[in-house]
Amino acid sequence: MDFSGLHVAVTGAGAPTGIGRAFANMFLAEGAKVSISDLRAPQVDGMVGFACDVGDETAINTFIDGAEAANGPIDIFIANAGVGFSDTRDGAASADNKAWETSWAVNVMGAVYPARRLTPGWKKRGAGCFVVVSSAAGLLNQIGSASYSATKHAVLGFAEAMAIEHKADGISVHAVCPQYVKTNMTKGMSFAENNKDGLLEPSDVAQALKSSIEKNEFLVLSHPIVGEYFKAKAMDYDRYISGMAKLRSKVSQDDVKL
Ligand SMILES: NC(=O)c1ccc[n+]([C@@H]2O[C@H](COP(=O)([O-])OP(=O)(O)OC[C@H]3O[C@@H](n4cnc5c(N)ncnc54)[C@H](O)[C@@H]3O)[C@@H](O)[C@H]2O)c1
Repeated sequence: MDFSGLHVAVTGAGAPTGIGRAFANMFLAEGAKVSISDLRAPQVDGMVGFACDVGDETAINTFIDGAEAANGPIDIFIANAGVGFSDTRDGAASADNKAWETSWAVNVMGAVYPARRLTPGWKKRGAGCFVVVSSAAGLLNQIGSASYSATKHAVLGFAEAMAIEHKADGISVHAVCPQYVKTNMTKGMSFAENNKDGLLEPSDVAQALKSSIEKNEFLVLSHPIVGEYFKAKAMDYDRYISGMAKLRSKVSQDDVKL
């Protein structure tokens, strides 16, 4: 697929080592016009940078307005910004309300707000591409972080709804569901760094997204094994829970701290 001249906008792309920046770099190399944002405006050669807290609808709209003023109508929007908070040793309901509320605002509404803003224009044009960065935790679970798992499930459900509702409008939707990737989020997390399924580079996830857009695949499985785990879960949910509980019993909360 020829991405040259398309306008790609990415949230949470401030960290040079992050997945969002890898998406931005990949599309820039493909000849796209790239607009990026983060809590503080990123300064990157060849891209236009904006400050945008994705949990704030007005800030999202201002980012989209600024990006479109600079680079024209957005063709591909990537809701990448994400946060994770660990549970305490008291278990799945133990993270405080602030952690749950921030996770909901960033991981879920950070996708809903841009979709709400962009959908009417994309419907009129009969084209648009919306990418949500969920996680393997959205298909399976993140041991040690119930708020991350629940909100990544929620945003995957939202992406599914977008795909179902707007396929006939010509809007393609993709949900990126990586397992562990080498970024600030997993730095120092021994369970991720030593994971048997491997720790990918952010650029690997960007290549997986490119390939899924080209094939018009909904699920972007940068770690193909996640697709196998997901199938096994669907075949036998109780076996999945027992297996995960067994794994949980072998891992300390320190090993999985986000
Ligand atoms: N690293 C992994 O193993 C992994 C695996 C699966 C999914 N993910 C997801 O990938 C995405 C990118 O994460 P990453 O691994 O590159 O980590 P990262 O911490 O490098 O990037 C996350 C970015 O989101 C930004 N951000 C946080 N709150 C924000 C807000 N309110 N508004 C705007 N930006 C905000 C941060 O400043 C940061 O730059 C996240 O959605 C994450 O959940 C990561």
